[in-house]
Amino acid sequence: MIPPKPPSRQGKGSVWRFIRDFRRDILSAQSDRLYRAWMAEFRGPFIHSFTCNDPKLIDLILRQRPMDFPKSPRMAAGLQPLLGNSSFISNGDTWLRQRRIIDPAFEGGRLREAFPAMWQAAQAGVARLAPLADRREIDIEPQTSHIAADVIFRTLFSIPIENRIAAQVFEAFRDHQDAQPMVNLGGLIALPRWARPHSRRVRASARRIRGLIRQLVTDRAAGIAQGTAPPDLATKIMTTPDPQTGACLTDREMIDEVATFFLAGHETGASALAWALFLLSESPEWQQKLAEEAEAKLAPEFGAVKELATARAVFREALRLYPPVAMTVRQCRHAETLRGRRAPRGAQLVLSPWHLHRHQRLWEAPDAFDPGRWQTENGRTCMREAYIPFSAGARACPGAGFAMIEGPLILSALAKAYHIAPGDTRPVPVMRLTLRGKAGIRLRLSPRAAMTMGE
Ligand code: HEM
Repeated sequence: MIPPKPPSRQGKGSVWRFIRDFRRDILSAQSDRLYRAWMAEFRGPFIHSFTCNDPKLIDLILRQRPMDFPKSPRMAAGLQPLLGNSSFISNGDTWLRQRRIIDPAFEGGRLREAFPAMWQAAQAGVARLAPLADRREIDIEPQTSHIAADVIFRTLFSIPIENRIAAQVFEAFRDHQDAQPMVNLGGLIALPRWARPHSRRVRASARRIRGLIRQLVTDRAAGIAQGTAPPDLATKIMTTPDPQTGACLTDREMIDEVATFFLAGHETGASALAWALFLLSESPEWQQKLAEEAEAKLAPEFGAVKELATARAVFREALRLYPPVAMTVRQCRHAETLRGRRAPRGAQLVLSPWHLHRHQRLWEAPDAFDPGRWQTENGRTCMREAYIPFSAGARACPGAGFAMIEGPLILSALAKAYHIAPGDTRPVPVMRLTLRGKAGIRLRLSPRAAMTMGE
């Protein structure tokens, strides 16, 4: 069965209709032709954009000359109340400095140290789902959100999601999402800045989240000063000086980064896990294979994660079919010639993992769920050239290594404990801040031990 894909726009329509549809749902507003095109130019009243699907073009923008294609300020504007000027939206020298300080926290050795916290969050997630695993239909997205948020708090600040402030941040964050349901990429880039004011509620919820994070950061700064801070990611980031200037992040910059880790780390992980579980629900063979692997190899040791090859292949395939960051936008710093066409200074370059990962001229069976593809020649080539769930180049996700441990680990823990069946309706992918199910992702869980004994 082919996993759900939203309908695409057929043929041409008016620019205004396109913009209206684009704001509503960026994926179904796109033309079907983008699954075959190498590049597509769009001129609207407020935007001149190029959707880039040609792997060579993506390589140029992300890997070869990233400083000439900074992040689009249109995207930054929507996220600014919550993220300030964090690494996710900054550009130029500020961004370079931020990455020099953040990146060491996500190196291999640090991930090994973060592993026990991930393991605990995975186990806590399995336990939290137990009362719901009686074959009733549930929306899995809030559950994966809970687990992914728990991972972030445990690894960053050594506190579980039940901690008073952590629970408040999680709750305030949900409020923030409700307050700005239109913070999807369509809403952010299709309209000019003046047409996208932040509501009072959005600003208030962002202020509340940042206030709570400020408490965590202030407490941690005190702990560092007294020598009592645990050796987690927050301590590492707050005590790493910029190798060029010797200065650490200020408290305000640290608040920006923590808000970013929370947003970028938990929204994306939650989306990827939810889609992976859905794909497993429709693929009994892969689910069985994964459960058997988990039964044999899942263990509370960092080294065991590399044994989880099936879990990794499934998670990777979920990130291909349902990339949490389905599109992102860069801006031309200078006029450029792209595939023979002139792109003026300021033109918006849309990079779409959604289309690239399903490109009909690149992938074999692009819409099919097949974790075995990574062993094929086409799969290996495409992984190098046409697979960017974490973006690529200097500006790639610093949490990619973290996510590729967290994702397969949690997937294994859940598949070991529960049998996963589809709900009554198939999810429809829509692009919000990350890729979500329009009416959630509905599944039915039951304990695997009970199932194997009783059936
Ligand atoms: C499955 C999980 C994840 C996915 C799919 C993902 C994907 C991405 C993508 C595509 C970008 C680039 C966005 C763009 O260019 O507009 C990005 C950036 C970023 N991600 Fe992740 N991410 C994940 C997990 C994480 C985690 C766990 C963290 C940290 C705890 C994290 C922190 C960041 C940060 C700080 C950036 C901004 C980097 C920069 O612009 O220099 N992400 N992520």
